[in-house]
Amino acid sequence: MKKITVGLIGFGTVGSGVVKILREKKKLLSEKIGIEISVKKIADKDISAKRNIKVDSGLLTAKAQDVLDDPQIDIVVELIGGINPAKDFIIRALKQGKNVVTANKALLAQDGKELFALARDCNKNIYFEASVGAGIPIIKALREGLVANNFNDVFGILNGTSNYILSQMSDNNYTFQKALAEAQAKGFAEKDPTLDIEGIDSAHKLILLTYLCFGRFVDLKDIFLEGISNVSLDDINYAKELGFEIKLLAIAKKENDSLDVRVHPTLVPESHLLSQVTGVNNAIHVSSDLAGELLFYGPGAGQLSAASAVVADIVDLTQDLKAGLFRPTLNAVADPAITRLCRIDEIESRYYIRFMTSDQPGVLAKIAGILAKSNISIASVTQKEKRKAQVVPIVMVIHGAKEKDLRAALNMIDKMSVIKQKSVAIRIEEE
Ligand code: HSE
Repeated sequence: MKKITVGLIGFGTVGSGVVKILREKKKLLSEKIGIEISVKKIADKDISAKRNIKVDSGLLTAKAQDVLDDPQIDIVVELIGGINPAKDFIIRALKQGKNVVTANKALLAQDGKELFALARDCNKNIYFEASVGAGIPIIKALREGLVANNFNDVFGILNGTSNYILSQMSDNNYTFQKALAEAQAKGFAEKDPTLDIEGIDSAHKLILLTYLCFGRFVDLKDIFLEGISNVSLDDINYAKELGFEIKLLAIAKKENDSLDVRVHPTLVPESHLLSQVTGVNNAIHVSSDLAGELLFYGPGAGQLSAASAVVADIVDLTQDLKAGLFRPTLNAVADPAITRLCRIDEIESRYYIRFMTSDQPGVLAKIAGILAKSNISIASVTQKEKRKAQVVPIVMVIHGAKEKDLRAALNMIDKMSVIKQKSVAIRIEEE
């Protein structure tokens, strides 16, 4: 049986999952694909750390170049994450004539255009299924399964850690800090959770989905980005009383000639499927002209689910290597109707708003007066009575308004002496 040889760079959680799957599913895989996949070398900075899998010490090396420069290695699997040295390793692997599998969304979101072009020049491929939604095969689905479709939008819950935190707040009344500490104790959230909770990881994944659906790489700095660190338990509970859950959504939508790309906490009706997505699960909604509305759902983080996608990429590459051909990945073609990115102040949305005000006559009338002057129509309003409290929340839902008009109105409202804290406004998505 033909043998394909793999080298790993990065022997952390996902790397050990890959080795485990290749070992435990060896027979199943070789029966399915008619090829034996063998791991020849594993490079990691720390080769003495305890892992949940034992490997022959002869496989391990502390030097990535032992993998990159080994002429027998056909596929390099990069799992160290981050920009450098991961980028240098991928460049070197391609130039040495190796195909690459990576889960590195931060790197591909930043430098994917350059790296994919280099791969083509080298007649090699970079596969990256594990970079979005772990084991959910969304990249293959967008690129191959939906090849004949044009897309109207792609949006969803792309970060398992944030979703876990929001779910614990909503289901168990945890504060943000308590939910984050639990996510860290369970190993979902990193010690420094910034990438996950500030929406950056979701934005990296959204850049890759936007590339696949609309054929263009959007710069991280051009994405409107708001994480979940300012979402309060009060807002989650008030939203729930109104029939909504708060979810961190990553959204790319075609709006006439522009592309609206953003990541922010969003109120989603409790009847919407995305509201039912809890814990570390992800869900990606795709609206396409031929296949219609599709939802891809499942665990978005976790050792074996991410490793399952890495192994699928390795297997895909083995098929080409077996046939002795270079089959470039299908092109992502730019939608000619899209000529620009939409600015956040152009978007129109319904909003949930919370004002914190002194409890005295005329406050509501003053707020309503400013909203009316800005042509903003109120859909519902409730004042939450807090006994003895001097500051009370007024919770409002407004009908569709331009972000620009709402921000201008809130600026005026927040300057009033009766307003005691910066007002909170969260967008509502209902489609
Ligand atoms: N940190 C990511 C998440 C998983 O919480 O979704 C890896 O992409």
